[in-house]
Amino acid sequence: MKKLLDEMVTPISDEYGKFDNYFTESMLTDVKLINSVVRYVAKRKGKRFRPRLCLLSAKLCGKINENTYKASALIEMIHVATLIHDDIIDEADLRRGWPSVGRIWKNKVSILVGDYLFSNALSNMCDIDDWDALRVLSKTAKRLSRGEIMQVESAISKDLDESGYLKMIGDKTSSLISASTLIGAITATKDDEKRQALFNYGEKIGTMFQIKDDLLDITGLEREIGKPTMFDLKKNMLTLPIIYILSTKDKTKRKELISHLKYLSKKKKKKEIKSMIIEMGGVEYAENKIKELSEQAIVDLNIFKDSEVKTALISAINFNMTRKL
Ligand code: IPE
Ligand code: IPE
Ligand code: MG
Ligand code: MG
Repeated sequence: MKKLLDEMVTPISDEYGKFDNYFTESMLTDVKLINSVVRYVAKRKGKRFRPRLCLLSAKLCGKINENTYKASALIEMIHVATLIHDDIIDEADLRRGWPSVGRIWKNKVSILVGDYLFSNALSNMCDIDDWDALRVLSKTAKRLSRGEIMQVESAISKDLDESGYLKMIGDKTSSLISASTLIGAITATKDDEKRQALFNYGEKIGTMFQIKDDLLDITGLEREIGKPTMFDLKKNMLTLPIIYILSTKDKTKRKELISHLKYLSKKKKKKEIKSMIIEMGGVEYAENKIKELSEQAIVDLNIFKDSEVKTALISAINFNMTRKL
């Protein structure tokens, strides 16, 4: 599985190293407090799935250039900012195996540094000086916050069906992943067909990525995913496995099931919850959805001829299918 993540950078190993410098440098400032938080975050690297996709998409369409580096760095910066904010909203203590930023610096600093990273990313976007890229990024910023708000809204109303869920994760997660592939393409080609194909691929892989993240919340190990498990249910966040099992019941049984799951969650009976969801077909349903999307994502790449880079983009799909982190 780690091998598949490495395979994603085989055709771009030099460029991937260069990205690292851009990323770290582009976040530093002359404000000490920002730098302390930024250093902490940059040290705990994460998978860097989005910049990998951005660099690969550019190379699939042409040459990785200065703008591709800038774009992949600012996309990762937006990602980090959303994680800092997301952990405050979710009240999560653990991220990438370490205390979350909010846990160490408290909410006030975390909100401000998250905002700083967002605005820094947007201002770096202007340096790219490309209207197409800027348009994509502004739309993405809007979708990102809409998605997080929709998630809070559905947690309060406890009412979310599959199509609402897909729309919400499309906004909160696929948006930035498809922006990575599309902006990567924009920095390397003017060919609309190629740009569109990579956007479509990005939307699908982004959706799969979030469904998998939601599955790992139920089936994963805290020491591998580096964040709390069985946490979505605790925070009233409805995810596909649960939405599915609820959809198989009538209204009364649905209410009973949800209050039973909440009861087990309060009692920290993680194993029981996991077995119940598996037994009722929730995990299998979500896994099938991931498979379906992965097949569609491969079709999106059909317009490109076979190459090492295309193989790496297919590895990204396989990585997501099998990942445990
Ligand atoms: C976590 O993203 C949030 C989701 C959108 C699921 P990642 O799984 O990409 O987080 P890191 O960067 O690897 O920690
Ligand atoms: C992804 O959702 C959040 C963002 C898009 C910022 P999650 O809430 O599932 O992400 P994790 O599980 O905290 O990483
Ligand atoms: Mg979260
Ligand atoms: Mg999650």
